[in-house]
Amino acid sequence: MKVLIIGSGGREHAICYALSKSSKVTEIHAIPGNPGIAKLGTCHNASVEDLEYILKFVEEHNIDLTVVGPEVPLCMGLADLLEANGHKVFGPCKAAATLEGSKAFSKDFMKRHNIPTAAYANVDNYEDAVKTLKEFSYPVVIKADGLAAGKGVVICEDEDVAIKTLKEFLIDGALSGAGKTVVLEEFLTGFECSLLCFTDSETIIPMVTAKDHKQIFDGNLGPNTGGMGTISPNPFMPDNMDDVLKNEILDPFMKGLKEDNLDFRGVIFIGLMIENGHAKVLEFNVRFGDPETQVIMLRLKSDIYDIMYATATKSLKDINISWSDEVAGCVVLASKGYPGSYPKGLEIIGLDDVDSDIIVFHAGTKEVDSKIVTNGGRVLNVCTTGNSLEEVRNKIYNAIEKIDFDGKYCRKDIGLR
Ligand code: AMP
Ligand code: GLY
Repeated sequence: MKVLIIGSGGREHAICYALSKSSKVTEIHAIPGNPGIAKLGTCHNASVEDLEYILKFVEEHNIDLTVVGPEVPLCMGLADLLEANGHKVFGPCKAAATLEGSKAFSKDFMKRHNIPTAAYANVDNYEDAVKTLKEFSYPVVIKADGLAAGKGVVICEDEDVAIKTLKEFLIDGALSGAGKTVVLEEFLTGFECSLLCFTDSETIIPMVTAKDHKQIFDGNLGPNTGGMGTISPNPFMPDNMDDVLKNEILDPFMKGLKEDNLDFRGVIFIGLMIENGHAKVLEFNVRFGDPETQVIMLRLKSDIYDIMYATATKSLKDINISWSDEVAGCVVLASKGYPGSYPKGLEIIGLDDVDSDIIVFHAGTKEVDSKIVTNGGRVLNVCTTGNSLEEVRNKIYNAIEKIDFDGKYCRKDIGLR
């Protein structure tokens, strides 16, 4: 089978790694891919947003399954376009992808289908927003409606900050397209967990849990990033939550998809706040998480192609997924300055010096004159599995000593309590 993967990060490299172990997959192609993926398949230089090019590529190369990594092409309707032309896709159609593409839509979906979430109000102009603010206590959470690459959520401690944020979002247009509508939201307390599930709109199968470390500095300090490291399983997910999550979140979610006629065939990534044995949904993402996927793929024992093909063809009910009991870890090596501005094009050395049980996924790299150089904020994901978190941490941090580039930065506390 020939598979095309859309995207260029560590998440996509990890998916290709799993696909490369499949007994069914004979060819892996990526648009645009990265130098790590290039060792497993063929990379084709084009934009993930060039939907017409992707369709033409799928037709010319007789691709059997297209797997979409990032949310942007899904929200643009890539799955709809490929499906309409008779091609199989792992990734939801545009209407279902709006669960990530519009926070206002997503909140209304949760309310309509009794999925527990923070109290909220959607507003689309400054005057109404200021009036509506009076209904909330502080801190209040203000969210830009549209995709904002992680920059659209502000937790406002007091009214001054809230008014300033509303002005920036609704009058100054700080987030351009993402900020025309704003969601005001009750601040939730508890601890955050995410749950990633495969679903084909008929069946939903949770994956093993993973814990992300979002802030840039040790001890969860500093600004939020895309994610600085992950471990799986998530030691903070309470053991007895399965039934609660099924009854209170997953069942109403599936009923909601059906009632609203949303065609969802891919991964639903549910961001949760858990307190006193109950969970509320913070957000939906309509794709694999990055870097959650890196550790989840390392624990997957079943053939990923079978799971993805079944998801794309609505036969997930026939699939059993088995997972390794091992612990998996992933530490992100980032460029100096990330998540602010950072240099690119710095040579990376030592990639071939790590032990054979270490897997280094490429997240933001490029090949120039046969050298691998940095090409993003998150550059590499150093990953492994083991019998304990301690073993995993030791192996990863030893490997990190062998890899170098100017300004290499990582958190030292991934997987520590
Ligand atoms: P979101 O993109 O909606 O998940 O928001 C990004 C981050 O903001 C979350 O991971 C939480 O840490 C925080 N957050 C979002 N909504 C809330 C809320 N209602 N209460 C508390 N924290 C929140
Ligand atoms: N690691 C969080 C995300 O992928 O959105």
